[in-house]
Amino acid sequence: METRETIGEIMITQEEILKRAKEIGEQITKDHKDKEVVIVGILKGATLWMSDVIKNVDLDIIIDFMAVSSYGKEKHTSGIVNIIKDIDVNVEGKTVIIVEDIVDSGNTLTYLREYFYAKKAIEVEICTLLDKPTGRQVEIEADYIGFTVEDKFIVGYGLDFDQRYRQLPYISFLQD
Ligand code: IMP
Ligand code: MG
Repeated sequence: METRETIGEIMITQEEILKRAKEIGEQITKDHKDKEVVIVGILKGATLWMSDVIKNVDLDIIIDFMAVSSYGKEKHTSGIVNIIKDIDVNVEGKTVIIVEDIVDSGNTLTYLREYFYAKKAIEVEICTLLDKPTGRQVEIEADYIGFTVEDKFIVGYGLDFDQRYRQLPYISFLQD
């Protein structure tokens, strides 16, 4: 594939991701017996990870999706979150598990967590493929974390730069 940016080496393989998705899916199953669970994937980055995780969740779940504003061509967060597509299921009285590709500044998830509490969810949890703690601007921690990554601009397995590289079946990064 001809690319405009230089992609670094593979940081996390598909096999490692699938193994972690299985562990987390099984943990979510254990943690949510007898609960009404809505799993909300954040488009577009969370789609690959979400599909891996939910196949390992042995509960009577409902899934939905939401789209929020992204960086566009910027590599850094603006702190402003716009809803582009909302969920269409009712989360009142239910547990919401938000599935994200990466927690960086924490702004998106801080906003979304409050958003679901405002919609009267009784519990809002976060399941992220990646955690980049060095990017944090607000204090927030995911309940389920696939992998912790260092301070690089990550691409692949759902994560994009300017909408590209989402389809890569592994996690890599952009070279400076
Ligand atoms: P936040 O800074 O935690 O609000 O992250 C918001 C969104 O920025 C994430 O859901 C990703 O879509 C995107 N993002 C943050 N860090 C990276 C990265 O390293 N690569 C690609 N996208 C990223
Ligand atoms: Mg993005």
